[in-house]
Amino acid sequence: MCRICWFMVLILAVSVSALVYLFVVRGVTVPASDGRTAILLAPAERDLVLTEMRGFLAAVQSITEGVVNEDPAAVAAAARSAGAPAQHSVPASLVGKLPLAFKRLGFDTHGRFDQLALDVGQFGDTSQVLPELVALMNNCVACHAAYRIDLEP
Ligand code: HEC
Repeated sequence: MCRICWFMVLILAVSVSALVYLFVVRGVTVPASDGRTAILLAPAERDLVLTEMRGFLAAVQSITEGVVNEDPAAVAAAARSAGAPAQHSVPASLVGKLPLAFKRLGFDTHGRFDQLALDVGQFGDTSQVLPELVALMNNCVACHAAYRIDLEP
């Protein structure tokens, strides 16, 4: 192939890699004043993420209540409400602003709620719910330690 063609292929490959890095890996982030990484979002995007977060908190409360009441059906219903299929669809523009590690932790958390719902349905009792919830909540702690949301300028 001609030299100029190789050069153009190279430029294209570098541009695609840069775009993938920007939109898939890094997201739109800046170092925050408290040492965390701030994800910069528009007000409506922030609202959407925080609404999902309050859903997580409500699910954890209901799951714990279900364990106290030894009610596997209530635990399963609460866990499913925070599982992957129950989530709002996330606009592509927002997906591009979230760093890859954040998305991974988010998917894993929804997946763990789904797994908890499946397990409590299968075992038919609540004996293994707390150990699973403890492991799941490590994701809450890890993500909050690493990220916060600031409004984009
Ligand atoms: C993938 C990352 C991630 C995971 C996992 C995660 N959170 Fe969050 N959560 C955040 C971020 C970022 C914020 C905004 C924090 C800030 O700006 O200081 C937040 C905020 C919240 C808030 C505040 C909501 C509001 O309206 O202000 C609650 C409550 C919350 N999370 C609960 C949870 C619970 C419970 C879990 C686990 C079941 C969880 N989160 C898992 C990233 C995450």
